[in-house]
Amino acid sequence: MVSDKSRGRSEMVTPLRVLIVEDSEDDAFLMLRELRKGGYEPLAERVETAAAMEKALAAGQWDMIISDYVLPRFSGLAALHILKQSGQDLPFIVISGNIGEDIAVGAMKAGAHDYILKGNLTRLVPAVERELREAVVRRKRRQAEEALQRSYEELEQRVRERTEELSASKLELERLVGELERSNRELEQFAYVASHDLQEPLRMVSSFMQLLERRFEHQLDDKARQYISYALEGSQRMSQLISDLLMFSRVGRGTWNPAPVNLNELFSQIRSNCRTTLEETGAVITCDELPIVQGEPSQLSQLLQNLLVNAVKFRKQDVTPEVHVSATRQGKSWLLAVRDNGIGIAPEQHQRIFVIFQRLHSRQKYNGTGIGLAVCQRIVEFHGGRIWVESEPGKGSTFFFNLPAWN
Ligand SMILES: Nc1ncnc2c1ncn2[C@@H]1O[C@H](COP(=O)(O)OP(=O)(O)OP(=O)(O)O)[C@@H](O)[C@H]1O
Ligand SMILES: [Mg+2]
Repeated sequence: MVSDKSRGRSEMVTPLRVLIVEDSEDDAFLMLRELRKGGYEPLAERVETAAAMEKALAAGQWDMIISDYVLPRFSGLAALHILKQSGQDLPFIVISGNIGEDIAVGAMKAGAHDYILKGNLTRLVPAVERELREAVVRRKRRQAEEALQRSYEELEQRVRERTEELSASKLELERLVGELERSNRELEQFAYVASHDLQEPLRMVSSFMQLLERRFEHQLDDKARQYISYALEGSQRMSQLISDLLMFSRVGRGTWNPAPVNLNELFSQIRSNCRTTLEETGAVITCDELPIVQGEPSQLSQLLQNLLVNAVKFRKQDVTPEVHVSATRQGKSWLLAVRDNGIGIAPEQHQRIFVIFQRLHSRQKYNGTGIGLAVCQRIVEFHGGRIWVESEPGKGSTFFFNLPAWN
């Protein structure tokens, strides 16, 4: 180390860690003296070979390098090269005894920040000051660029992670959809097998009952005949339940392949299907101008028919049943309402009636298996809508559901 022996000055001094590439100790001394005069307290090391410079660069933290241009075993250009190799960005000032303009230009091109003649050392301190300032600016810019680069990388990493997450959840979704399709297929198969396999022994029960009745006609008393007729009724009912279950398992399935369905036409067709019932009860059926919706015609026909039949079936005694169908546009769908003046439904039953085989009355009072509304719900949900009821006992009921508009 070339140490500073002239301490004790009272003014503020700035420490400066300077690496001097110089063979002449005297010249180095002159430089240091100049720096001290300029208010620096140099902490300097002098090197004069490539190996010594590499070692010094690796060992210490430097503020700048001041280098002679020509040395016996080294040169300013070689020193610049070593500095570049080290990856450090330090101000590099070339100092030379006599420097031609072309040498100066060459040194600057090679990356030197300034050059100074040994005979004009008064330029040294202003050059050091300027280069230190610029080094700070360069460092700040580098830090900002590095921070920007880091945040780009972080962003890229996040995007990569997010993409991976998304594709993982997509896979999970596909797996679940596959599972659902499989279990639906299995369920359908089960319902099909169950209906066929259960119908068979049921037919046996009823045939043998009938055989029993015929064969032992004279031995049977009234009680026995009544028991047989109960058994036959039961098996008929069970047969009905089984075929309802099969129908239910099939409705609202398959691919969504909608067609335009004119509900006015559909409705008048349903009216003619139910003509007998309507005439028998004297029901008054009215409807608004109904829209064209998107859907599966046979399903929509079943939906409207189930609701219409219910509206008439659950009528009040001695009151002419009146049913009105209306439609309101709601964005991309239509809200349909089927209103009746029937017996009504208690609020606590509003959910339950949509569950398969759930009925609120005895079969003796109102016939049916309790599948109509469960089917309606499936159909509406298949069409992407919802079905619900608003009703009070004694005040009639209104069934609401939405269907997608055709245009
Ligand atoms: N318009 C209505 N007014 C009053 N109660 C109703 C009405 N519609 C349905 N309900 C009640 O909801 C129950 C379920 O209706 P759903 O249509 O599913 O079965 P169901 O008509 O009894 O039998 P199915 O439709 O299988 O012939 C009915 O049993 C009845 O108690
Ligand atoms: Mg019904």
